[in-house]
Amino acid sequence: RPAFSMNVREGLSFESVPLNAIADQFGTPVWVYGAGSIRARFAALKAAFAGENLPVHIHYAVKANDHLAILSQFQRLGAGADVVSIGEFLRARQAGVAAADIVYSGVGKSAEELETALGQGIGQINVESAEELEMLSGIATRLGVTAPVVLRMNPDVDAGTHAKITTGLAENKFGIAAADIPALYAHAASLPGIRALGLALHIGSQILSTEPYAKAYAKAADMVRALRDQRLSVEVLDLGGGIGIGYHDEPGMNLAAFAATIRRTVGDLGVRLMVEPGRYLVGPAGLLLASVILQKRTQKRFVVLDAAMNELMRPALYEAWHGILPVDPALFHTAQTQADVVGPICESADCFAQDRALPDLPPGTRVALLDTGAYGAVMSSAYNARPRAASVLVDGGKAVLITPRQPPQDLWADEIVPA
Ligand code: LLP
Repeated sequence: RPAFSMNVREGLSFESVPLNAIADQFGTPVWVYGAGSIRARFAALKAAFAGENLPVHIHYAVKANDHLAILSQFQRLGAGADVVSIGEFLRARQAGVAAADIVYSGVGKSAEELETALGQGIGQINVESAEELEMLSGIATRLGVTAPVVLRMNPDVDAGTHAKITTGLAENKFGIAAADIPALYAHAASLPGIRALGLALHIGSQILSTEPYAKAYAKAADMVRALRDQRLSVEVLDLGGGIGIGYHDEPGMNLAAFAATIRRTVGDLGVRLMVEPGRYLVGPAGLLLASVILQKRTQKRFVVLDAAMNELMRPALYEAWHGILPVDPALFHTAQTQADVVGPICESADCFAQDRALPDLPPGTRVALLDTGAYGAVMSSAYNARPRAASVLVDGGKAVLITPRQPPQDLWADEIVPA
């Protein structure tokens, strides 16, 4: 893990900043993001595409981590944004992303959301049904604008990932069945207020092999050729996100192989290519730093942290595995025994790891929950009236506060008690 280093005196550091210093200054639980890691990951993906001589535009999937400080990193790197709600659209705009560089996906965009996005000149709307297309045509006509439309095709390909994050199977709610695309595309091209630009697909998240991509992209390429045979114009192919990372001992997606798959399947179509990665860009660029409240021993050893499932939902929701590293180097000399690492919330699902080999972790010692930059803070809640954790951005060896810890009284500040 290139961003981490260990020093006998200072313990574990992330991008050269000792995590103990961050915990001392900002308290725990605290999210720590590394700007250097974000830049390095973006550069690696760009380099993989460049290696295949592929002009692929990267639209960062805002849902993975929508903090303005993170969005502004991507804006500075020249990325576009992929959004799934008007809230995400407005966040990306606030971070300085041009409306023309924003793609809007999702099965249920409301009329109000579409109006706002169109009114601000959004670059692309990925339409997921005939019903949405009709609605969009009506709104665009009424506003006197032309909606730039891409149809999201459901390629019916198994992404080989967790069922809760698979999106490209026929049984999933996403996209339009391939069989329905030709007629709907022709219809879109004839509708007032609509400009049919091309196709999109997204088959799922945390994909570790190029194989499902190869299958899905081959189907997309066939569809582009079929549409062109009908003399329909296809200029854009949005290849979606889903690039997987190594959380445990599994290797992450091989970027060179991913780029080669794109070139081989859709590289000669002469379309404008784009991808929408989220997790790959920010997952390993963030960690959740927590303190041990106490260790309790029943039949098992439980390490109880001050972070809980309200901060990081992934283990409870998907049985996700996250690395857990003690911050204090002295602890590495104690014997490792199995422990369940849990939070203080009143649910058995509030468990970050089961039977994990860890050294003795006395109260007050700190641990880092790794690879939590994506789908971490964005999925957190205030369950059990737990105030939102703080977050910091590390850049150039300095840690800067980017979200203050929420004061408890803010939890109910906007609640109304009828007289
Ligand atoms: N594009 C679309 C249309 C998507 O639905 C998604 C993710 C992405 C792009 C970005 O996918 P990524 O590159 O990050 O895999 N909360 C889950 C992940 C849900 C992903 C939803 N869609 C988790 O924590 O694993």
